[in-house]
Amino acid sequence: MNFQSKNFLKEYDFDKEELETLIDFAEHLKTKEKHGIPQRFMSGKHIALIFEKQSTRTRSAFTVAAGKLGASVEYLNKNDIQLGAKESVEDTAKVLGSMFDGIAFRGFEQDTVEALGKHSGIPVWNALTNEWHPTQMLADFLTIKEHLGTYHGKTVTFVGDGRNNVAHSLLVTGAILGVNIHIVAPDSLQPELSVQKLAKELQELSGSKSLITSNVEAGIIGSDVIYTDVWCSMGEEDQLDERYKMLNAYQVNQDMIDMTGKPDTIFLHCLPAIHNTETDIGKLVYDKFGESGFEVTDEVFRAGYSKVFEQAENRMHTIKALIAVTCGEVY
Ligand code: CP
Ligand code: NVA
Repeated sequence: MNFQSKNFLKEYDFDKEELETLIDFAEHLKTKEKHGIPQRFMSGKHIALIFEKQSTRTRSAFTVAAGKLGASVEYLNKNDIQLGAKESVEDTAKVLGSMFDGIAFRGFEQDTVEALGKHSGIPVWNALTNEWHPTQMLADFLTIKEHLGTYHGKTVTFVGDGRNNVAHSLLVTGAILGVNIHIVAPDSLQPELSVQKLAKELQELSGSKSLITSNVEAGIIGSDVIYTDVWCSMGEEDQLDERYKMLNAYQVNQDMIDMTGKPDTIFLHCLPAIHNTETDIGKLVYDKFGESGFEVTDEVFRAGYSKVFEQAENRMHTIKALIAVTCGEVY
């Protein structure tokens, strides 16, 4: 298996064996790190982080992972560079490719990260676009493996905005890995048909199944993992009222967890989450809709079976594995 110089622009850039190898390698690196064993696979390398959207976890994960691997990081936000405004993505890619050893991109259009991948000549990693969030998936399936022993054959149920980047990525990654994915969402927020079609094709190889339904009970019963995300993704904040009307019946609460009928179901959320009034957006949502405006109750978010902070930590371990194998000297 040769990861060297490969891009990770969407989940299906990697096949089942490659994704599994990455998740297992991240687990291995995590264990080594907990024992204080240095991992300088990227000594002397330099990576660029181009971020058009905000980030806590992904930016920090790339920065810390690269630092632990011995690489330097340059953070370029959209006001620092002229990407697409005064300099084309192609030209920017060629310039950065001549200086750096890898590029992480977070932004709006998938086409931008694809163009960076095409023209830079160095590995490019999608740190989230409107369409996909592939690095998130590595952390999610590692977290499931850690808590349930395996992800193979498990049922992971995403509840909420089934048309967003995380839901799309989950549906496709589960189809590659052989994990059953349920998407529980109102008809108007179910995954794009092209993504459903892609997932079906991939499921024929892996043998897993998906269920896309607006019926909460049908989607939740038997779930090993309940996963949700914000109802308005970055850039959609003006749709708050409309989304509340569509999604308030899809809040993850204790009744929903009990409905799984499983004693060991875990809760995941990619974060950031709206679950109380400790944030400006949480206060705004509460003032408009009360607690039913939160995508998950504070009770579930803070429960013992909620693994959201382990999941967040795993962003760093899995991104470390990804950048080490594609850009470092591992194999
Ligand atoms: N989950 C995630 O991508 O978080 P950030 O937006 O903070 O990077
Ligand atoms: N769907 C969310 C994910 C954030 C990590 C967004 O795009 O804002």
